[in-house]
Amino acid sequence: MKRQKRFEKLEQRPINKDVIVKEWPEEGFVAMKSPNDPEPSIKVQDGVIVEMDGKKREDFDLIDMYIANYGINIANAEKVMAMDSTKIAKMLIDPNISHKEVLKYTTAMTPAKGQDVINQLDFGEMIMGAKKMRERRKPANQSHVTNYIDNPVELAADAAEAALRGFAEEETTTAVSRDAPFNALSVLVGSQTGRPGVLHQCSVDEATELQLGMRGLTSYAETISVYGTDRSFTDGDDTPWSKGFLASCYASRGIKMRFTSGSGSEVLMGYPEGKSMLYLEARCILLAKASGVQGLQNGSLSCISIPTAVPNGLREVLGENLLCMMYDLESATGSDQSFSHSSMRRTWRFMGQFIGGTDFICSGYGAEPNPDNTFAGSNEDVYDYDDIHFLSRDYGQSFGIHSIKEEEAINVRRKAAKALQVVFKGLGLPSITDEEVEAATYADVHEDMPKRDKVADMKAAQDMMDRGITAVDVIKALADGDVNDVAEAILNLQKQKVVGDYLQTSAIFDENWHVESAVNEGNDYMGPGTGYRLYDDPDEWKKVTDIPQVIDPEHFDM
Ligand code: 5AD
Ligand code: CA
Repeated sequence: MKRQKRFEKLEQRPINKDVIVKEWPEEGFVAMKSPNDPEPSIKVQDGVIVEMDGKKREDFDLIDMYIANYGINIANAEKVMAMDSTKIAKMLIDPNISHKEVLKYTTAMTPAKGQDVINQLDFGEMIMGAKKMRERRKPANQSHVTNYIDNPVELAADAAEAALRGFAEEETTTAVSRDAPFNALSVLVGSQTGRPGVLHQCSVDEATELQLGMRGLTSYAETISVYGTDRSFTDGDDTPWSKGFLASCYASRGIKMRFTSGSGSEVLMGYPEGKSMLYLEARCILLAKASGVQGLQNGSLSCISIPTAVPNGLREVLGENLLCMMYDLESATGSDQSFSHSSMRRTWRFMGQFIGGTDFICSGYGAEPNPDNTFAGSNEDVYDYDDIHFLSRDYGQSFGIHSIKEEEAINVRRKAAKALQVVFKGLGLPSITDEEVEAATYADVHEDMPKRDKVADMKAAQDMMDRGITAVDVIKALADGDVNDVAEAILNLQKQKVVGDYLQTSAIFDENWHVESAVNEGNDYMGPGTGYRLYDDPDEWKKVTDIPQVIDPEHFDM
């Protein structure tokens, strides 16, 4: 066939490298409603759920049993389950009904009912729902701080810069798992240099991650993953009860934590049982609720290529974020994993979470260039900073971050690299040279860093664990090296674990170590003129609008 010129060019557009497929319900390739999803139902006898979503208690699987026992507000359940789903959906967007009032209904829904309510909403209505149902008054953001070679000095510098830019949480992981203690330590020192009170985590295997937390080398945990069918969940010795136990371990040490889940994981593992992604995710959300954790990171996350391959995929993703909020959980909306070749589609990926506002708009904005992101690349990274600032300025909407000046970045990066140099010296770890400090100050990518002896670092990281190094040793090393402000910030972080206020739903710290959570800074949105508005927050608005790119008419020379 002779090619039509426009069609030929269209074919070359980046969007056409993205893969999309037809629905295939038997294999779970359906976003919001599968013919195999159960109809919502409930029967309660003597305070016990004896039937849920068409299944009798004796036929419950592990997940059903866990949810029925611990996840649902049983007192309101029969009343709410008898209500028309559109009626509950309308409450979400009715400005006259408060966040708190809606929760009385939405926390009493079974997974199938939750799914049914979300199915009543179009994308715009979901945005309105998120505006009200987000737990914290003010949205925030989370970054990924990693690099391809786990270079500790660069990690510290990137963590400090990200903290200064306003990220409330920083998540690291490793390229090589044995580097975990060094990565946790580097981001600890970097984050507290950048802005005291920024929370940070190191996503690794569950045993190591808990150890790092108990030693004070991290301040929260997140990648405690749950899945929506028994067969995808019970990997090794995992059960809902083992995850619940793990959650209690963190809480008992005063460490903030949330679970992780997201549509598409069951499909990827091959056990979706023919159910829709939204229904399975509703089960995951209820697993988090049932475990008593304060929040959930969801929104498909690493599995984003699955829902976005089928119709209604990104509507489903915002839907599952909203459903998480409707169960009274903090929502870290994972607008992070890269999934599209199209910059337009990439931007629209987070527009709902951005315009609605969520507790953490991204649960992993790349605070390094994508090739250095060891979470396999983020949907948005350092090179998008200015685009984001322009969008915030255009729409008057908070992205939880703001522009900084080049000299501020240079100063804070150097300060963090030096602080880590002091810590490494104090703890007897392989030394950090002045050359490395300078390189990290000006670096963009890991190739800009002098090579370190990886074997020596790995041995020292293991030795650090064997010697029982904790945050107290880090504080001492900093104080001995006269880096007192960073020492004090890390000490404060440990004190906060004893106080425990930051275990409250959606808690973050402001720059004065005040907790901002659903308890003391809850979402008070009640329609126009209420709730958090960036353009009504003078300090933040200035940081977003008064950026270096702006031309000031008063100082404009013709
Ligand atoms: N479901 C559950 N856990 C997920 N993670 C990422 N995506 C999902 C998902 N859809 C978690 C896993 C992974 C980490 C980076 O995040 O635990 O190891
Ligand atoms: Ca994350």
